[in-house]
This record gives sequence, structure tokens and C-alpha cells, in this order.
Amino acid sequence: YKTLFGQIKALVADEGDLIANMANVAAMLHHEFGFWWTGFYRVDIASGQLVLGPFQGPVACCRIGFGKGVCGSAWERKATVVVPDVHQFPGHIACDSASNSEIVIPIYKNGEIFGVLDIDSPCLNRFTQEDQAGLEAFVKVLETGI
Ligand code: SME
Repeated sequence: YKTLFGQIKALVADEGDLIANMANVAAMLHHEFGFWWTGFYRVDIASGQLVLGPFQGPVACCRIGFGKGVCGSAWERKATVVVPDVHQFPGHIACDSASNSEIVIPIYKNGEIFGVLDIDSPCLNRFTQEDQAGLEAFVKVLETGI
């Protein structure tokens, strides 16, 4: 996480386009850690839903409602949600049957939720407190460019 933190900071400092930065952050995390799915959902004000953003991995569902699934829960709770076993999470949205654990981190803009970073792993209980702290720090860097 320490090595990647420097890279992500430099990337966001050098490029002002948010979509480009989200795309590169997803690619960096995905390839460095070998996750199953790594990407972003943004809050779409018009529809009141999360809408799919830049990601790496298999095709995913485009829209998620407020409070729905792990992503919608992180949005509603305004907090990171770590799910050690997605099959035990009521309302989990299975975009792909290979996913077994998941972490979703809210991203803020002006005190409001802008979107979420969502990561899936085929391993059960993949996301530790270290992962949570590292990923939350990356999101903070991304927020500086929103
Ligand atoms: N599992 C998520 C849906 C998004 S996919 O994992 C990419 C959820 O329950 O919100």
C-alpha cells in the first residue's frame, strides 16, 4: 500500500480528469493485488442510484439503488462496509458468482457521497483492517481531485 500510495498521489497530482484517474486507480489496485473486480460506482443525482464507473474485471451491473447490496449499504451508512462472506450478506447483489468477499468505501465531495470504490475477491475474508486503511487512504487522495 505504501508503494502504491506514492504512485496514486503522483497520478492524481499530474492529471485533472477524474475519469482518467478513477480508471488508472482501478487498474493499479486490480493488477497489484489480483482482485476479482475493482471499480467505481458514482451517485447519479437524476436517478437517485449508483451508476457504474471505470472498473477492471468482468461485466458488472450498471445501477444499484440506495441501501441496496453492499455498495448501496455503504452509501446509506456513509461508512466503509467489509463483507467477509458475501453469501451471508442480506441483499448482496451478485454480479458474478466467483466473488466471495467484498469491500466498499464511500468517496466524498463537499461532504456528500460522490460514489464508492468497490472491490471483490474470490477469497473468503480477503479484506483486513490493513486493506481497509490502505484503500481509505487511496480514496482520500482521489477525493482531492474531485
Ligand atoms: N456486489 C455488489 C454489486 C457490484 S459488483 O460486485 C461489481 C453489491 O452487492 O453492491
